[in-house]
Amino acid sequence: MKIFLCGYMGSGKSLVARHLAAKMNYPAIDLDDQIALMKEKNIPDIFAQKGELYFRKLETRVLKDTLADPASLIVALGGGTLSYGNNLQLIKDTPETHMVYLKASVEFLTNRLFNEKETRPVISHLKEKEALEDFIRKHLFERAYDYLQAETIINVEGKTPETIADSIAAKLQ
Ligand code: S3P
Repeated sequence: MKIFLCGYMGSGKSLVARHLAAKMNYPAIDLDDQIALMKEKNIPDIFAQKGELYFRKLETRVLKDTLADPASLIVALGGGTLSYGNNLQLIKDTPETHMVYLKASVEFLTNRLFNEKETRPVISHLKEKEALEDFIRKHLFERAYDYLQAETIINVEGKTPETIADSIAAKLQ
């Protein structure tokens, strides 16, 4: 079984993946970490030096490797993974996969991401909070269709990563 956590930047995918992994006794991986390891570079440097398209190709390659791995895994996707190429379909077409959408509102994501945007090249140019909020509103609207393909949808607001992991584990039993 492979469990994919999807959702916008700042929804807590990586942290929830770690808690869920401990709970279910599966290893957890983070797609961004895998890309950074492979290239020995962090994500902002990859974007800055090679551009987004290059990053998206690496992301698809790492996703395919993950899907081909026979091991059970918890996988934290990047916020944009499902919206590029045929990544969403690749996951849907792979047996024994389950997607979970960590859902949060524009306001919640704006507040969380405002102090964390430097590590996220897609939003790091947005200096004012209002500009960030406008961007997220439009971007989330564009991506929501893909996130909503998930079999399980969990609202993450007001919950700790532990309780979110508990709800996911309970749904999967
Ligand atoms: C991106 C999200 C990031 C990372 C990259 C692009 C996006 O992952 O993959 O910066 O397009 O939403 P997180 O959602 O883990 O921040």
